[in-house]
Amino acid sequence: MKKQPLFTINMVIKKIKIKNFRNIKSAEIEPIDGINIFTGENAQGKSSFLESITFISNGRSFRTTNDFDLINREEKIAFIEAIFENTENIKDEFSVSASITDMGENKTNKKITFCKKDVKKLSEFIGKINNTVFSKYDSEIASGSPSIRRNFIDRLLSFLDNEYLKNIKKFYTLLKEKNFLLKKEKNIIVADVINEQLAELSAYISEQRKSISKIIEKEANKINSTEMLQNFKIKFEYIPNIEYEGKTLEEIKNQINSTFKKYLNIEFERKATLKGIQRDEYNIELNSMSAKKYASQGQLKIISTVLKLTEFNLLEKQINNTPIFLMDDCFSELDDINQINLWNCLQKKGQIFLTSNGLPKNYAEYKNKQIREYIIKQGNIIDIVDR
Ligand SMILES: Nc1ncnc2c1ncn2[C@@H]1O[C@H](COP(=O)(O)OP(=O)(O)OP(=O)(O)O)[C@@H](O)[C@H]1O
Ligand SMILES: [Mg+2]
Repeated sequence: MKKQPLFTINMVIKKIKIKNFRNIKSAEIEPIDGINIFTGENAQGKSSFLESITFISNGRSFRTTNDFDLINREEKIAFIEAIFENTENIKDEFSVSASITDMGENKTNKKITFCKKDVKKLSEFIGKINNTVFSKYDSEIASGSPSIRRNFIDRLLSFLDNEYLKNIKKFYTLLKEKNFLLKKEKNIIVADVINEQLAELSAYISEQRKSISKIIEKEANKINSTEMLQNFKIKFEYIPNIEYEGKTLEEIKNQINSTFKKYLNIEFERKATLKGIQRDEYNIELNSMSAKKYASQGQLKIISTVLKLTEFNLLEKQINNTPIFLMDDCFSELDDINQINLWNCLQKKGQIFLTSNGLPKNYAEYKNKQIREYIIKQGNIIDIVDR
């Protein structure tokens, strides 16, 4: 049996400095190791504050893939600097800084340092800061396009296992090569070589996706019933684009490769890859009904929240380190009861960053963590209230 740790280590942000990020010209925060909540009216900068924290934790934004959007429109360089700490019995402080420079013509230059050393590849940085982010994009895990579900799983697996991150990156690089070839010339020999490698990577990726889906389903139902107090059952099922029955990776690889072979001619005709893990799906149901088709807005929010809390729990268990939990617009779509259920649930986590129009009704009755409210107006923190 795995030895239980004597104590848990929390990942926390001690200090963060923000300059020229979105509508924030200049700000400095010393967050508490509790619930930090950004409140204020619409379009004041609540999400921008949260986004700057996710940016320094992951090296990228949760709402844009174009770093240019992040630089304040009146400036040429955005800058964030943070001091993180692994707390409890062990004290281990480290700094991360990030800058985005406008290079003209919509191009940017991003620089990240970790413990004062330059980060050469973003993949080296991913996973260093243990965190779970819930953004507007994540609220569509159950209802949105398959790529949202694939990203959810890929991010989780990449955090849990660096090997997965390497393999998925390799897969997409090879897939690009294959698509390039399909468009350029009908070279079956080269295509077969690429397919063989794609099949090997696919076997590994599929098996990982399949096994994490089972783990997610179990953990999500536990959280759903005991923490979010919901009475519906969640199904989370992996639907591979290429079905396989094999047991060993070698058998699975061969099955996938034979499907690739079957489709190769038509892929050359259509000049595109038709089959593969890039088209995998996940089926999410509540009480045996497709969530996408039948779930209410509130239920969709609850399902995505539960899935993100599942990610949080799995990261915490596997890495033996409590992640920072960040959630944008956390109480929207939820009624008073569900707001309090979520609020209660968050009391048991580590350091938390939330944005909301306000705190839930009767929040003080269900409080066992320190709470600090930052009131945001026009990109500035105009008041800080300890609740
Ligand atoms: N690069 C940028 N430079 C300057 N302003 C920006 C930039 N990007 C976004 N903004 C503006 O910053 C403001 C704050 O946006 P933000 O999404 O943080 O608001 P919010 O407080 O979360 O609002 P809501 O309650 O509607 O979610 C908006 O008016 C937005 O248009
Ligand atoms: Mg917002």
